[in-house]
Amino acid sequence: MTYEHAIQVVAHRGASEDAPEHTLAAYLKAIDDGADALECDIRLTADGQLVCVHDRRVNRTSNGRGAVSAMELADLAELDFGSWKVTPGGRGHGRTSDDSLRSLLDSDAEAPDLELSRVLTLERLLELVTDTGRRVELAIETKHPTRWAGQVEDRLIELLAHFGLTKPAGGERSQVRVMSFSSRSLRRVRTAAPELPTVFLMQYVLPRHRDGRLPGGVHIAGPSIRILRANPGYVARLHRAGHRVHVWTVNEPGDVELCVRLGVDAIITNRPRQVLSQLGR
Ligand code: G3P
Ligand code: CA
Repeated sequence: MTYEHAIQVVAHRGASEDAPEHTLAAYLKAIDDGADALECDIRLTADGQLVCVHDRRVNRTSNGRGAVSAMELADLAELDFGSWKVTPGGRGHGRTSDDSLRSLLDSDAEAPDLELSRVLTLERLLELVTDTGRRVELAIETKHPTRWAGQVEDRLIELLAHFGLTKPAGGERSQVRVMSFSSRSLRRVRTAAPELPTVFLMQYVLPRHRDGRLPGGVHIAGPSIRILRANPGYVARLHRAGHRVHVWTVNEPGDVELCVRLGVDAIITNRPRQVLSQLGR
C-alpha cells in the first residue's frame, strides 16, 4: 500500500531494534535503511561533554556502572556499549562482536570497527549527519536538563553553532530540532537560538494542553502513541492550533496505520526499515 501523506520517518536512538541504541552502528544502519531523520538523547559528562545516552546510568547499555554525569568522557570511552545487544546471553558478557555490528551495515561506512560500539558524542553524530551524502535531519532530546541549570542547552547551542546548524540556510527547513519533556529547557533553547524548531514531548496531556495549545513558542507537538490510541482526535486539535505532530515510539504496524489515518507529520520508531516499507518507500 502507498500512502499520499509524506510522513517523516525518524530512527529512534538509531535503528535501535537491530543495533545497540545510540551507537554509531545504530545510526549508520538507520541511514542505510533510508531514515529521514535520527533521534538521540543527550547528557552531560562530568567534564562537560555531551554524549548520546538515554539512561541516567550506563548500567543497562554498557559493560560499566555508574551515572553519566559522574564520569568523564575518557572513562565512558573505555566502555563497550554494544555487547548487551549483540552478544547472545545478554548484557555485559564478553566483548562486543564488532563483526556482527559491521555486518548489519550495507554501506562501507568509514568507521573503525571499535568506534561502532563506543560511546557516541553529540559532536560525532553531528559530523555524521552533516557529512552523509544526503539530507538527514536530527532530533535531539535534552535529558534531565533542569538539573544542570542550562548547561546542557548552552553546550548544545555552542556545538550546533560550530556546525552552522542553529539557523536554517535561506528559507530551508532546519536540519536539527530540539525536543524535551521540559518546557523550560525548550524556552532556554529558543532564547539562545530562536530559529531552531522545538518539540514539546508529552507522555500524557495536561488539562491546559487539551485544546491543542502548547507552551508558548513551541513549534511541534511530540505526543506518545499511547495518547493517540486513547484520543485520536488530539492530532486534529494540535494541527488546528498550528503545531506539527511527531509521534513516538511507533513500532507496530497497527500503530503506523493509525498515524497515517490521523495525518501525523513524523513517526519516531526503533524500526525505520519496516515503517518505511509499510509506507511504500
Ligand atoms: O522521541 C521521544 C522519545 O524518545 C521520548 O522517550 O524515553 O525514549 O527518550 P524516551
Ligand atoms: Ca528520546
